[in-house]
Amino acid sequence: MKRIIWTAIVTALIIVAIPVLIVASGAINMAATSQPSDFEQTVATFAVQRSMAWRIPEKSAVPDSDDAVSHGLTHYASMCVRCHGGPGVEPEKFALGLNPPAPALEKHLDDFSDEELFWIIKHGIRMTGMPSFGREHSDEEIWSMVAYLRTLPNLTRAQKKQLKEAIGESHANTREGSGGHAQSEANEKSGDKEDHSHSDQSHSARNIGE
Ligand code: HEC
Repeated sequence: MKRIIWTAIVTALIIVAIPVLIVASGAINMAATSQPSDFEQTVATFAVQRSMAWRIPEKSAVPDSDDAVSHGLTHYASMCVRCHGGPGVEPEKFALGLNPPAPALEKHLDDFSDEELFWIIKHGIRMTGMPSFGREHSDEEIWSMVAYLRTLPNLTRAQKKQLKEAIGESHANTREGSGGHAQSEANEKSGDKEDHSHSDQSHSARNIGE
């Protein structure tokens, strides 16, 4: 009996020690330039899904009004488009260095309920580049962003223009006193004609909707 207890204790210690040693050795590369292992992706995806399942609000409160959608668009243009881009609108270059990547939302909307979108915007997703917006925005404002997200696949030309201008403005800000982004100016001038959707970025790292 004593022997069985000792074997159990030693086995448990080994099970705990192995992952601790792997982490402590520095073998896991935490650089954003290295791809996470399949194991890490699976665990992280599962953790986010379970976390949301516990915490999302019970009932959707997405407003059904044009006012709310246009309010949501203003927020999206000032806070989201730089990372996520939009239909026909490229994200900022820095966003391509995010790992996990910021997905093109219009392609993943069907993976999420309204309540899940609300939760993600309000609380963000830890250990990714997705910030929480709940500190400085009321629930009502966040629901208006959800209302807007639902319209993303069917934006009008004027709405796309607003997103492009938002990216243009942020380039103008970073341009002050520095070399400048001639290319972005050229893109702005080309207007709506070229409607190349930004790359799907495959959203491989943490596909929490699937
Ligand atoms: C600094 C960059 C950044 C900004 C700004 C940002 N996001 Fe994100 N967002 C991300 C990243 C990175 C992910 C991927 C997280 C993951 O894979 O778990 C993400 C994920 C999401 C998701 C989940 C989609 C999916 O398929 O996983 C939603 C919804 C979302 N963001 C909405 C928004 C909205 C709305 C805003 C603006 C209010 C916003 N994001 C602003 C980086 C950003």
